[in-house]
Amino acid sequence: MVNILDLLRVDNTQTMPDSYKQLTHEEMRERIIKIKKDMGEKLFIPAHHYQKNEVVEFADTTGDSLQLAQECEANKAAEFIVFCGVHFMAETADMLTSKDQTVLLPDLRAGCSLADMADIQQTEICWDVLQETFGDTVIPLTYVNSTAAIKAFVGKNGGATVTSSNAEKMITWAFEQKERILFLPDQHLGRNVSHDLGIPLDKMAVWNPILNEFEYDGNIQDAQVILWKGHCSVHENFTVQNITDMRNDIPGINILVHPECPYETVKEADYAGSTSYIINVIDQAPSGSKWAIGTEMNLVQRLIEQYPDKEIVSLNPNLCPCMTMNRIDLPHLLWSLDSIKTKEYKNIIKVDEKTTEESIKALNQMLKNV
Ligand code: 13P
Ligand code: SF4
Repeated sequence: MVNILDLLRVDNTQTMPDSYKQLTHEEMRERIIKIKKDMGEKLFIPAHHYQKNEVVEFADTTGDSLQLAQECEANKAAEFIVFCGVHFMAETADMLTSKDQTVLLPDLRAGCSLADMADIQQTEICWDVLQETFGDTVIPLTYVNSTAAIKAFVGKNGGATVTSSNAEKMITWAFEQKERILFLPDQHLGRNVSHDLGIPLDKMAVWNPILNEFEYDGNIQDAQVILWKGHCSVHENFTVQNITDMRNDIPGINILVHPECPYETVKEADYAGSTSYIINVIDQAPSGSKWAIGTEMNLVQRLIEQYPDKEIVSLNPNLCPCMTMNRIDLPHLLWSLDSIKTKEYKNIIKVDEKTTEESIKALNQMLKNV
């Protein structure tokens, strides 16, 4: 456990010293192997499926957002969790672990542009308008790709968090509670899953948080789903044109995408699901089958390497990296681990107690439903 005096010395403003960039790949690998061996089960390194191979090599577990949250919650032995993913995932890990466990994010610049599309002030303004417009008929759901403050807001208002692997279950649950849902911050996931559940597009309004107004043709009272106007800048790059081109170039190709892609793309695709779902579909596919995948580049590249018996390409030929996920690299991982060794902890992710308490309500509502 990090003691209070050490915590007072924590400085989250520093960037990694240049000396780390001068180390060879092999030097970094050897130092990380040694630290992992010395710390044993006191150290836990979860890595999201979008992480680079050089980082995944040292992961104790890999997973989608839901699996990583569950594994962090279940891990009682680790004193330190060095989270290889993005900021909202590290915040979730901190909230789901005990006070004695410390979460570090190897590079604080590893944010999520989608999560940044909703802040708490905007959310409160939207909520006030929803209450005035619809009365007490709305339940909030937030994609885990959101700040802890928004998870807390949702928890306080009786809602739940959602990931791409359980959105269907959670939206179904939400409609058992109230007549309408507010789904934030990813309009595409909300629209795709609500439509799969039988809600027509003309019953879905969009909330524009910049103009503070609904985007909706018709009587707003008819809206059952209010979608926050946010999107993932990586998944927006997979288009219907990409699918048409792919099907023309490679007859018989299967199109497999993440549900953060726009509605038109998901509708045209053959399969859609979370990062773990994508991995499972490829794993189960017969040898010789052909696949175009619409998700982050590192995962697509890894699948191409791991399944040479299947023909796999990126749905967008330009490849689509998540720049923030890619901030976590071997030098930053080593820097983070070194900081534990020297007790000069870098980039500790600590959510305050009040926010944690409210967020946990939303997270637990999800975790008990899946
Ligand atoms: P998954 O939960 O499917 O891993 O998705 C997380 C994410 O950020 C996708 O962009
Ligand atoms: Fe966020 Fe999109 Fe990157 Fe996922 S791929 S972490 S949603 S920016």
